[in-house]
Amino acid sequence: MSEETPEVSAETSLHIDPYERNWMRLTVVLLVVFATAVTIAGFALGFQVPSPEERVDPRTVAIGDGPFADPGLREYPDGSYDLYIVSQMFSFSPNEVTVRAGSEVTFYVTSIDVQHGFKLQNTNVNMQIVPGQVSKLTVTFDEPGTYDYICTEYCGSAHAQMYGTLTVEK
Ligand code: CUA
Repeated sequence: MSEETPEVSAETSLHIDPYERNWMRLTVVLLVVFATAVTIAGFALGFQVPSPEERVDPRTVAIGDGPFADPGLREYPDGSYDLYIVSQMFSFSPNEVTVRAGSEVTFYVTSIDVQHGFKLQNTNVNMQIVPGQVSKLTVTFDEPGTYDYICTEYCGSAHAQMYGTLTVEK
């Protein structure tokens, strides 16, 4: 009877197939690429995610003496603007706005009924408008022109008629 002791390998590390190892490396590389892209977009290129600025009561936000009770432009001495917009089926209020080229405009948009969208054509402004919440985004308009803003969230039968126009004049 032989005293055969089973061979226990000193190699206790997990065996990973080289093919799989390459995919794991690629995954790490992609994560680094994505994290770098997000960092550059956010800090170097100034991309912003529309932020929920404030919680409000959709039943009362457009009445009383808050800014949404009298929506529209507020102009400041430095030439910048705040623009308050109320969304409801099936309109934006106001639906015609004019600002000067080169000015910085901060949008505050809310809804008093259902979910809407706010997309400013030919720009990267695109926000979800959720009742009970104020969506905020700041944009500088360098190019004079006419920019339509449209509802991008299906909100009912006249959804396609829900739009307004922002004019940037010299
Ligand atoms: Cu509002 Cu579609």
